Amino acid sequence: MNLEEIRQEIEEFITDSAEELEQFRQKYLSKKGTLSQFFDQLRTLTADDRKEFGQKINTLKNNALQKFEQLKTEIENRCVGQTSDIDLTAPANVAQMGARHPVSVVKKQICDVFAKIGFTIAQGPEIEDDWHNFEALNFAPDHPARDMQDTFFIDTEPDIALRTHTSSIQVRIMEQNQPPIRVVCPGRVFRNETITARSHCIFHQIEGLYIDKNVSFADMKQTLLYFAQQMFGSHIRIRLRPSYFPFTEPSAEMDISCDICKGEGCVLCKKSGWVEILGCGMVDPNVLSNCGIDPNIYSGFAFGMGIERITQQLYKTKDIRLFFENDVRFLQQFAAI
Ligand code: DAH
Repeated sequence: MNLEEIRQEIEEFITDSAEELEQFRQKYLSKKGTLSQFFDQLRTLTADDRKEFGQKINTLKNNALQKFEQLKTEIENRCVGQTSDIDLTAPANVAQMGARHPVSVVKKQICDVFAKIGFTIAQGPEIEDDWHNFEALNFAPDHPARDMQDTFFIDTEPDIALRTHTSSIQVRIMEQNQPPIRVVCPGRVFRNETITARSHCIFHQIEGLYIDKNVSFADMKQTLLYFAQQMFGSHIRIRLRPSYFPFTEPSAEMDISCDICKGEGCVLCKKSGWVEILGCGMVDPNVLSNCGIDPNIYSGFAFGMGIERITQQLYKTKDIRLFFENDVRFLQQFAAI
């Protein structure tokens, strides 16, 4: 073997076996190895030749040493995994996955039910003016809902407040569109109320609005029955109780039959067999004309519900504050839905 062949062999040598590496070491780096024999030959050369030849075999020796060290480290590193440093049988760390908030899940469910019967989704601003939140909706100037105790007003702008309900969106929709109108409007609303298990100063509502020619109270009842049965099950019954809202005439509150006691009466429905879930009514003609829609041609109904309340009804949770505290132990229970 000449020096060039040896140089090439060292350069091309590659292995992942400790045994082969040891053979390589013996061949090029041990006292009895190929290179040592060349060192022995040095003595037989002239001074000039010795210098040149010596340099060449020294370089080869260094190359072999470098190669040996490099492969040794690689093999050792690979072996680490097979020793006790890493337990390949240990279970993997399971990454904690996030999940949608129960209020978001139920909001989508409600919107999906109405989407199936042709309702589209609309939104509006959380910071509203008095016209959209109250006046256009037929609230008298001295209506108690405008009171400082119920509404968060913006200090510097007496006419501007955080919306107290999503009914403000129906005003915006009617101002901007002519019938037929079929929308559901989800959103966050704000009321200056004490935070308790049953009430919160921030919560979510969905407003519904249907305006066309010849829309009747019967259409409303049928639509809301469809909604209740889609959400809570086909065995659910509804009842409409007369009520009052400034923006609807007539107005009603809708109850669903209690799913726990099947109408027999239990603690959850306060022994009545019914649970209130929304307010509704025929849009007052004043509201239609306030929004630029001719009440002599068109009629319609509106409804509004609290999303937290529906969620509580679906999942039998009792304290509304749980929805806002973001305690993972609570939220995790909804991860699968
Ligand atoms: N805006 C009412 C509330 O916040 C809910 C409501 C009742 C909305 C009747 C309506 C309706 O559209 O017709 O309590």
